[in-house]
Amino acid sequence: MGGAFRHPSQIHIAELSNSLLKVQVITLNIDSQSAENTQAIGRALGESAQPGFVYLLSGELGVGKTTLTQGILNGLQSPEQVRSPTFVLATEYSGCLPLYHIDLYRIDSESELLELGLDEYFEGDGVSVVEWADKAADQLPDEHLSIRLEHFDENSRLLHLRATSSGYRDAMDAVRSISLNA
Ligand SMILES: Nc1ncnc2c1ncn2[C@@H]1O[C@H](COP(=O)(O)OP(=O)(O)OP(=O)(O)O)[C@@H](O)[C@H]1O
Ligand SMILES: [Mg+2]
Repeated sequence: MGGAFRHPSQIHIAELSNSLLKVQVITLNIDSQSAENTQAIGRALGESAQPGFVYLLSGELGVGKTTLTQGILNGLQSPEQVRSPTFVLATEYSGCLPLYHIDLYRIDSESELLELGLDEYFEGDGVSVVEWADKAADQLPDEHLSIRLEHFDENSRLLHLRATSSGYRDAMDAVRSISLNA
């Protein structure tokens, strides 16, 4: 007997929702000429964040992930400063929404990752920001906005934004419409 997914109409629905998902992917590439520019991009992301938003950050050491996170926290109107303590993998900050800052750099096993319980953050009412998100590829929510940062030169970075849900359209528009003064 074929399983439920063998039914032709269900296969059709699966294909349709795949093609809809593709339509909903929104991308934006943006140059940042300074740490202040990167913070301004973060601020726009913080100001337009909604409960449950997930921002996934990737890019090599020192590229600006924490700098971007500081901007997001400022955009949430928090007076706090983002810290990167050596042994703490997740820190909660308060703002007009809570910010869950998760840094996976020091994660080196699947069991450590499971212990961290990422789902609790993603299902919370705050905004999750994950540094080194690529280390948790299997445990990330389907709906998110990813930001891949690349070194261009000493003070320039390329930021590649990609949203997998139309819920992030306003945040993308907010980033697109800021004017950056180098
Ligand atoms: N355009 C830029 N955007 C962001 N940071 C910049 C830029 N130009 C220079 N910098 C500097 O690069 C450094 C970025 O450090 P930051 O801690 O944000 O990186 P990170 O990606 O979080 O590193 P790590 O992988 O160690 O967590 C800071 O010293 C910042 O001042
Ligand atoms: Mg960092």
